[in-house]
Amino acid sequence: MSRKILVLTGSPRKNGNTNTVVKWFTDGAREAGADVDVVDVASLRSKNNGCVACMGCQKSEKYECVWDDDVKPVLKRMPDYDVVVFATPTYFFGPSAQIKLLMDRMYSLIKFDPARGCYTHKLSHLKWALICTAGGDIDPGPALVEQTFKTVAGFIGSNCDSLLVPNASMYSDELKHNTALREEAMAFGRKLAL
Ligand SMILES: Cc1cc2nc3c(=O)[nH]c(=O)nc-3n(C[C@H](O)[C@H](O)[C@H](O)COP(=O)(O)O)c2cc1C
Repeated sequence: MSRKILVLTGSPRKNGNTNTVVKWFTDGAREAGADVDVVDVASLRSKNNGCVACMGCQKSEKYECVWDDDVKPVLKRMPDYDVVVFATPTYFFGPSAQIKLLMDRMYSLIKFDPARGCYTHKLSHLKWALICTAGGDIDPGPALVEQTFKTVAGFIGSNCDSLLVPNASMYSDELKHNTALREEAMAFGRKLAL
């Protein structure tokens, strides 16, 4: 059966570096037979500025956010996939705020059980991946983003593969002509499809 991959893109620049790498990644993954959905997280409309810690999700039996907006159905569908790929530019040594907003609301997919002192969720089968572009070097920007995603993946008992893309300028189209990077991104897509 083909692997189902969800790609969450967090750059506000539709034709920018991150989305260019994502296009190459999805070409590779689809070529290898994966069923790929891409959600432009940067254009989702959210009712609040991120998770407001209302604890509505924790009081409910359901693994879903109580706020009814564009983000909610995307979160709810996450457990239906085999792989979730977060694609983000580096913004001030972290992921973009658009991606972080969705990440924080993933709290609704995880429940803390005070009686047992542990968390429960339906995400253990998920493999995570990160595509992170940056204007500068890998260290510190994308290296810090990678560390965050690896830590979150570890927290839910999974792991996170990454493709880090340094020296990706917003002031030129140079990245679009980088054939070695194109091949690397396609190979990353093929790898996660299998
Ligand atoms: C608000 C903002 C903050 C940024 N912060 C960093 C940073 O901390 N480190 C870095 O290497 N590049 C930084 N950059 C550069 C972008 O991460 C980089 O050019 C990226 O490829 C842009 O992706 P995009 O074309 O998909 O928008 C920043 C860019 C912006 C707009």
